[in-house]
Amino acid sequence: MNIQKKAIVITGGSGGIGQACARAFKNHPLILTDYSQEKVDDTVEELIKEGFDVKGIACDITNKNDIDKLIKYVADHGSLKAMIHTAGVSGTVKDLKKVYTIDLIATELLVDAFYKLAEKDSVAILLSSMMAHTVPENKDYDEALANPQAPESFNIVSRFVNNDSDLMYNFAKRGVQLLTHKHADKWGQKGARIVSVSPGVIETPMALKAAEEHPERMETIKQATPLKRNGQPEDVANVICFLASDAASFITSTDILVDGGVIHNIKKMT
Ligand SMILES: NC(=O)c1ccc[n+]([C@@H]2O[C@H](COP(=O)([O-])OP(=O)(O)OC[C@H]3O[C@@H](n4cnc5c(N)ncnc54)[C@H](O)[C@@H]3O)[C@@H](O)[C@H]2O)c1
Repeated sequence: MNIQKKAIVITGGSGGIGQACARAFKNHPLILTDYSQEKVDDTVEELIKEGFDVKGIACDITNKNDIDKLIKYVADHGSLKAMIHTAGVSGTVKDLKKVYTIDLIATELLVDAFYKLAEKDSVAILLSSMMAHTVPENKDYDEALANPQAPESFNIVSRFVNNDSDLMYNFAKRGVQLLTHKHADKWGQKGARIVSVSPGVIETPMALKAAEEHPERMETIKQATPLKRNGQPEDVANVICFLASDAASFITSTDILVDGGVIHNIKKMT
């Protein structure tokens, strides 16, 4: 796979999928970012020891000033190949507004900001979730999900989620998929692409936390998975690596499921 040696930026770079993505891009200049500078420094130090060309900067993705600093940092270190957006929280965060803000509003803040750096063959890869595929198309909330920065967006979506943060997560992740359609034309005018990836259950700190909360649900999901196993961060990172490469140069405005086939079976059961 041919990926030019431009910067690969990874949000949530200290998280499970973020770190696996970093390791999948050996021989590429990497810029990692995550919520805390300490976490970023630890991850960067570890990756440098493993021989990676990597640097990092902290960024709270819900904070526009932090995003501006990140954009300047990336611009100062060369041009953009890929923005891989893995930062996020799960429904175990019981604050619905927080889930919506981090998982959806901040995603669009990043897409808007990185558009300035996008050029021919750049790509934005946004982490959605297989759970987004359980939220049906519905114009009553889809317009709000596709426009998360609009003042009424959160209130409109809230009416459909019964005060349930797991459901809010599913809706927010549907919103992430809708953002790829909304922004694809604009990115396409630059010859750049925007896609989402929807993991199933991937064994990272985020999933293990969710597993502690719903052990029986996790077992049911595993049993319903055709491959009878959970995913590993590398399962997702390898697909992201492909999507960032020129081998995927005609893939944009779409979602790629990496779920071991389970969501099809879950939808049949409900
Ligand atoms: N692990 C799974 O099973 C699974 C399944 C479906 C989707 N996903 C999605 O994949 C992505 C990565 O998940 P993961 O399992 O690696 O999670 P993780 O918890 O290991 O990593 C997420 C990272 O995001 C960072 N983050 C959270 N809020 C932030 C903020 N405001 N600003 C900056 N950084 C912030 C965290 O510090 C953390 O390092 C998430 O978007 C998640 O929703 C994961």
